[in-house]
Amino acid sequence: MSSTKAKPVADSRAIINEIVLPNDTNSLGNMMGGRLLHLMDKCAAISAQRHANTVCVTASVDNVEFQAPIRGGDVVVIESQVNRAFRTSMEVELNVWAENPKQQTKLKSNRAFYTFVGLDDESRPVEIPPIQPETEEEKERYDAAAKRREIRLVLAGRLGLEDATNLREDMRAAIQASPSHS
Ligand SMILES: CC(C)(COP(=O)(O)OP(=O)(O)OC[C@H]1O[C@@H](n2cnc3c(N)ncnc32)[C@H](O)[C@@H]1OP(=O)(O)O)[C@@H](O)C(=O)NCCC(=O)NCCS
Repeated sequence: MSSTKAKPVADSRAIINEIVLPNDTNSLGNMMGGRLLHLMDKCAAISAQRHANTVCVTASVDNVEFQAPIRGGDVVVIESQVNRAFRTSMEVELNVWAENPKQQTKLKSNRAFYTFVGLDDESRPVEIPPIQPETEEEKERYDAAAKRREIRLVLAGRLGLEDATNLREDMRAAIQASPSHS
């Protein structure tokens, strides 16, 4: 089993910088979404493994929005960190920018949350260390992560709405009405 001593968010931070080449783009010359998701998964895996100090796998990816295209020739900048660890799983937040070094611009492209699970040598989920949030921002992310976890587990059919104690009544009603919760 890994150590269960709480660790700071900073220990899990990871950054990937990658130039977007023609092979990464679609027919409009913009980065393909699947290529970006692949890089995001890699960055998130680095954060998860830096936190858990064991092999980690992607359990789920929350909805990802592509707010602005990343163009060929841009540098895609991906930053990730563990917001909160639960028992064997953890929420990894990713923020993505498109940087154009020539024009000296850096535009936010998207934000996403991935859930990773730490595994032992037999590929079974293993307990991971908790996160010790330090700054106000880290504490806000830590609190919000518990709510997002309940939403994703309810939507995945792994948690009953009645057990989603962090969710407010109006959020429960919205989930109840969503097509994926049928
Ligand atoms: C993720 C995986 C390890 C979970 O295994 P499992 O047998 O369901 O194990 P458990 O029920 O004990 O769940 C383990 C943890 O995963 C979390 N989890 C499982 N499915 C989840 C989902 N859809 N969303 C969020 N968390 C999830 C559980 O809540 C639990 O977290 P906790 O211990 O912090 O409370 C297993 O489904 C797996 O190996 N999936 C394939 C992973 C993979 O290969 N990813 C790459 C994609 S190709």
